[in-house]
Amino acid sequence: MGSNSKMACVVGGTGFVAATLVKLLLEKGYSVNTTVRDPDNKKKISHLLALENQANLKIFRADLTDEQSFDAPIAGCDLVFHVATPVNFASEDPENDMIKPAIQGVVNVLRACAKAGTVKRVILTSSAATVSINQLKGTGLVMDESHWSDVEFLTSVKPPTWGYPVSKTLAEKAAWKFAEENNINLITVIPTLMAGPSATSDVPSSIGLAMSLITGNEFLINGMKGMQMLSGSISISHVEDVCRAHIFVAEKESASGRYLCCAVNTSVPELAKFLNKRYPQYNVPTDFGDFPSQAKLIISSEKLIKEGFSFKYGIEEIYDQSVAYFKAKGILQN
Ligand SMILES: NC(=O)c1ccc[n+]([C@@H]2O[C@H](COP(=O)([O-])OP(=O)(O)OC[C@H]3O[C@@H](n4cnc5c(N)ncnc54)[C@H](OP(=O)(O)O)[C@@H]3O)[C@@H](O)[C@H]2O)c1
Repeated sequence: MGSNSKMACVVGGTGFVAATLVKLLLEKGYSVNTTVRDPDNKKKISHLLALENQANLKIFRADLTDEQSFDAPIAGCDLVFHVATPVNFASEDPENDMIKPAIQGVVNVLRACAKAGTVKRVILTSSAATVSINQLKGTGLVMDESHWSDVEFLTSVKPPTWGYPVSKTLAEKAAWKFAEENNINLITVIPTLMAGPSATSDVPSSIGLAMSLITGNEFLINGMKGMQMLSGSISISHVEDVCRAHIFVAEKESASGRYLCCAVNTSVPELAKFLNKRYPQYNVPTDFGDFPSQAKLIISSEKLIKEGFSFKYGIEEIYDQSVAYFKAKGILQN
């Protein structure tokens, strides 16, 4: 396999995605350095401490806004996965809470990669929020890697949660600019909403959102509706598939550029119908009045699949495993 002696850094080990990514990399024989903001928060890093005892994992302190903090964890690494991003959907000051630190973080991490001199490839976790937000009308639109979200629309109209897509879009663009100017081999993986079990001590908010039709959380159901209206679809993947895609493009010599990564494209009413039938015990609502029953667009993973990647999990497995996870956490009773 040849990857046994390789060393990878995962930036942001406390996160939902990074937790699975670290685990998969260790299983593949990588030595892993991961960064966290607060290594003294033992509860938050408990899943990493458990792995550190049995595998080749080292935990470092680093903050996206502190350039020097990435030198030590990235030194000697072959691969760097920049997964962390500031997430605060309720922020009243998205510019300072999300946009500036996300851009600064990308530049700080990439600068440390250039300094290290050993890094062969950097994989940045982007988001479909950098691709699909636009003012186009209709249904059946196909979004691929050539599309970028309309930042001018987002910053002028300021629809709810606008700061997050703006921060992700500007951060990815900053990454491409820095990589080009500094000759860094950069690849971006662009996932949609993720669900599936999490190793983190707290339940990640994205699983809560994806599960809202089952738990009946009205606030989050409205969040899903808002997501369909702003992003154009409800597009979901299993977190493990997204992490597998990160490692796949990191290892695949011929890979380059951006890769959308999405297993399932649907809408709130379609998803509700599916969930209502599969899990009758949760009384999932299926009447959404005049809310659009169909998604405006689909997120195409054709480029990733043509490169040779295949998804392991479809909608059934994503939800079966998320339901089992919520039962194990005591959030669902039956
Ligand atoms: N989850 C999804 O459905 C989804 C969908 C599309 C794209 N993505 C992307 O996937 C990546 C991971 O998302 P996730 O769901 O795993 O997020 P998450 O669970 O909220 O984790 C975010 C991570 O970023 C770290 N972070 C935030 N601000 C930081 C700072 N200033 N310095 C250092 N670290 C900082 C957090 O550290 P602390 O623990 O210290 O706060 C945490 O580890 C993100 O880039 C996100 O945009 C996620």
